[in-house]
Amino acid sequence: MINNFLSIIIAEYSIKGGEEIDMDLMDAIKGRRSVRKYKHDPVPEEALQKIMEAVRWAPSWANTQCWEVIVVKEPKIKSELVTTLTKTNPALSSMADAPIVIVLCGKKGVSGFKKGEAATVKGDWLMFDTGIAMQTLCLTAHSLGLGTVVVGMFDHKKAAEILGVSQNTEVVAMTPLGYPAAEGSSPKRKEISEFVFYEKYPGRE
Ligand SMILES: Cc1cc2nc3c(=O)[nH]c(=O)nc-3n(C[C@H](O)[C@H](O)[C@H](O)COP(=O)(O)O)c2cc1C
Repeated sequence: MINNFLSIIIAEYSIKGGEEIDMDLMDAIKGRRSVRKYKHDPVPEEALQKIMEAVRWAPSWANTQCWEVIVVKEPKIKSELVTTLTKTNPALSSMADAPIVIVLCGKKGVSGFKKGEAATVKGDWLMFDTGIAMQTLCLTAHSLGLGTVVVGMFDHKKAAEILGVSQNTEVVAMTPLGYPAAEGSSPKRKEISEFVFYEKYPGRE
């Protein structure tokens, strides 16, 4: 019972079937898969808005919220975006099949900056903040029975031209959004012991 109380319920209703999905956070994290096969069924506007509401609440550097999201439904623009992927990208057909492609962008010079100067040696933190926003988007979509796959391997310059994205904004990643036609397989993960170290990095006294 205490477990139930403590678990964070991130999904309430499956919008399509009206069927309730009670998904706790760990189930959502472990159950989300990259989906590369989609049905053509449309995504309800309510589901899309719920996903954007989740993105709105993602954390960001000093709450700068540098992300900008372009929702592409127009088949012509979608097919132009498909041409930015190489033929070998496994997400190629999913971009064409899904009813929506979401393009995640980040405003440059905002995240990680203080009075116009980079606050750390890392420079612009836009990749970090948009990464969190993307995971928030993917998990929320999953909780609504929708599939996503992060697509990072494409011609970013060409995508920016197609979408008319301005110079001070970076196109970061895209994802198809739609109802899965097939479950994605679960790639193997590293063991915790392979990436968690205690107190200091190994090899240092
Ligand atoms: C930054 C980033 C870029 C990615 N780019 C692509 C891509 O271009 N094409 C693709 O098919 N999958 C891409 N993926 C999906 C990964 O291949 C996938 O997340 C990984 O294999 C783990 O599988 P899972 O998402 O089902 O857990 C990308 C994922 C991330 C986080």
